[in-house]
Amino acid sequence: MRTENAPAAPHKTTFLKDYTPFPYLVDGIALTVQIFEGRTLVTSKTTYTLRNPKGDAEDLALHGHGMKVHGVLLNDELLSPENYRMSREGFVMPCPGAEPFTLTFETEIVPENNTTLEGLYKSGDLYCTQCESEGFRRITFYPDRPDVMTHFTCRIEADKASLPVLLANGNMIATGDLDGGRHFATWEDPFKKPAYLFAMVAGNLAHIEDHFKTMSGRDVTLRIYTRAADSDQAGFGMEALIQSMKWDEEAYGREYDLDLFNIVAVGDFNFGAMENKGLNIFNTSRILTRPDLSTDKEFLDIRRIVGHEYFHNWSGNRVTCRDWFQLSLKEGFTVFRENQFGQAVFDAEVERIDEVNLVRTMQFPEDNSPMAHPVRPDNYIEISNFYTMTVYEKGGEVIRMLHTLLGPETFRKASDLYFSRHDGDAATCENFVKCMEDASGRDLSQFMLWYHQAGTPTVHARGEYDAGNKTYTLTLKQSLPDTPGQTDKDPQHIPVAVGLIGANGDDLVGTKILELTQEEQIFVFDNIGSQPVPSLLRGFSAPVILDMDMPEEDLRFRMIHDSDGVNRWDAGQALMLKAFDRGLTDYAKKQPLSREPELTAALGAMIDAMKDKKRALLARMLALPEDAIVAATHQPTDPAAIHEVRCHLETVIGTALKDRLTALYQDNASTGNFSLSPEAVARRALRNIALELLVSADQVYGLTLAKAQYEGAQTMTERLGALRAISSLARQERDGLMSDFYNKFKDHELVVDKWFQLQAGAVRDSVIQDIHALLEHPAFNWKNPNRVRSVLGSYALRNMTGFHHPSGEGYALMADAVIRLNGINPSVAARLLTPMRGWRNFAPPLADKMKDQLERILQSGDLSPDVYEVVSKTLNA
Ligand code: PHE
Ligand code: ZN
Repeated sequence: MRTENAPAAPHKTTFLKDYTPFPYLVDGIALTVQIFEGRTLVTSKTTYTLRNPKGDAEDLALHGHGMKVHGVLLNDELLSPENYRMSREGFVMPCPGAEPFTLTFETEIVPENNTTLEGLYKSGDLYCTQCESEGFRRITFYPDRPDVMTHFTCRIEADKASLPVLLANGNMIATGDLDGGRHFATWEDPFKKPAYLFAMVAGNLAHIEDHFKTMSGRDVTLRIYTRAADSDQAGFGMEALIQSMKWDEEAYGREYDLDLFNIVAVGDFNFGAMENKGLNIFNTSRILTRPDLSTDKEFLDIRRIVGHEYFHNWSGNRVTCRDWFQLSLKEGFTVFRENQFGQAVFDAEVERIDEVNLVRTMQFPEDNSPMAHPVRPDNYIEISNFYTMTVYEKGGEVIRMLHTLLGPETFRKASDLYFSRHDGDAATCENFVKCMEDASGRDLSQFMLWYHQAGTPTVHARGEYDAGNKTYTLTLKQSLPDTPGQTDKDPQHIPVAVGLIGANGDDLVGTKILELTQEEQIFVFDNIGSQPVPSLLRGFSAPVILDMDMPEEDLRFRMIHDSDGVNRWDAGQALMLKAFDRGLTDYAKKQPLSREPELTAALGAMIDAMKDKKRALLARMLALPEDAIVAATHQPTDPAAIHEVRCHLETVIGTALKDRLTALYQDNASTGNFSLSPEAVARRALRNIALELLVSADQVYGLTLAKAQYEGAQTMTERLGALRAISSLARQERDGLMSDFYNKFKDHELVVDKWFQLQAGAVRDSVIQDIHALLEHPAFNWKNPNRVRSVLGSYALRNMTGFHHPSGEGYALMADAVIRLNGINPSVAARLLTPMRGWRNFAPPLADKMKDQLERILQSGDLSPDVYEVVSKTLNA
């Protein structure tokens, strides 16, 4: 018998309000996984007890998907098929009685054919698992829900020569040889866990090893497993792991709880990494590094991701989620912890700017789309679709606001309380906020609206200075747009960090946290001697849009004088957005675009003021706001117009500042050995942005610089920076360097991904042919998510101009890709639709063409729940 995929639409919706606990307790599960070439036999033996023996004897319903069933045993006796049935979700049998009973399933699966990369699958020669959220049900029949927690043991059997390394969660308790050249290893996890944290690996892997002494003096063995050829790329990940373990002890008092911590690098993986207990599994792209193969951004991201997964050991594993609606309980909190860690170990100012930019470019558009949902959604068709920017990044910002409102000491008391009160629990977002309330004595009931109400709030601000009374009066007003299923929302609790800057650049009141809780509120500052320049939402104190009309003169002043780095950058972005406004207006009127003398002069002054002291911030501040940011302020959006104006602005900036940019370029050449110090990273970043602007100003001159940089590059940051600066040119030299790059690095999959990415992100007249050519390239592979994302993901999300090509052919090729991937890897397929979710925000011919393609996908036949949910909600909302 085979359980089939769920039938096509309509797919079932799951609602938060329907939550009920599982009626049985699970006293343990013992798994035996026998791997053979082309088939794997799984035996699971699980002990159940009816939770409430006096109540109704409820059916036992287990999840299960796509397995061949060889046998079902109740208390070791074969169960005949009339005693159970297979449902759409899995297995159902009447309650066998009030006494504890064991249920054994003997099933067969084919990891070799599992292209969904959920459950047990094969990546290259490696067998590995991915169980979050609902992958365990593809391994055996089980209550695959996070509130069912139990002890796991796992015995793995496999061919010894080809699969010498056998890993699972916890500690290895037995190992030995079997007949026929096979061997086994048995692992036991002493901690109870939900099935989504189960993991196992079988492969031919090398590893590096280190040790960590925990705060109570225990020795933990740390290993990172990779293919033998990659083991020289694991060292930085190991350093990051040790740094993370230490940081979590110092910042949160959290100690690691097993004697072994393993990380395995896997080339085919749907996400970045996974926090399985004691056995984290990482996408190779999120763990392997080498200066000549990895960019600085990758190094820094990897350090954060290693931290993120490690921090989940407490925020996720020791305290897990009651149901998947609570996903932000672990993800939002862990993103916040990761952000704190990232800021602690690197340049805090630019780390924060990058976080803010991510929220604005990726999360705000989600709020402004038919897929808008609260940090805690209340319904879903496919939970994989809710691993979103809202749950992760906005969820992280929500925790950050609690930290701001409570202050660091109280927040720490509250997190200690949370970890002790809920250790071993499957908890809810309310449980978390209740700990914040209990530790602080504050009423956070209004704050809870951040979890319930979707959409990005706007805070409208108006300031007035009264010279006679020496007062500065700030009027703040909040509004929250309607989102699908939610109208007429209530005011939220918004911390607004405010500074007032005096004429000489001093902070007149420091940074004050104003708490906006009503729809409109007035705040008065006394003893303000002269007209100040206000600086609002410092550090991006809340995930809101700030609407404050500020003279450009004040923005230019803040760009140099604001003591808050985020707001310095933000003032510059606001100035640039005003230039975009003017350019887009002129462009629409078919008038010549302004050469923006005031903007370029301000940027010149900024370079002079910052070039020796604030390199990292300067590099960020020289970059124009991303397309997504410009698009948000110009709806319906015309991507071609934005692109024209962008090119124009880059050209006028590059031209006006050519001498300064050339000097920056020369003065920041790298010296000596590779270093990842903030200073060294900033120099490379500054050089790359200067190069981009110089290429815009003068292609021939820029190309000469880029070619020299490419050829002399010691690091991937330099090499890729040179290529990126010229990637959109239609010149022979560009093509020559691109193919040289491919030939140099064709044996390094992760670098080949970058090669694909760069071209998929390039804005050229030939973009449609370019993308088709990439998809037909022999190194393209529909089954590898990294490769798919490096072409289709970059095209869709990093190339607004190219994707929204006036012909609509970008949409058509994306729809073809989604239809194809729907049958290979539904979760990756659904994610590619992200830029099309906002189709209504584009100018009519584009919007119509996107809609047509979405309808074509909907009518294309058997849609996975993943793709069906995104397309149907996108079209209907
Ligand atoms: N839980 C992982 C993380 O955020 C993400 C993930 C989700 C990975 C689902 C794989 C599958 O750390
Ligand atoms: Zn996470």
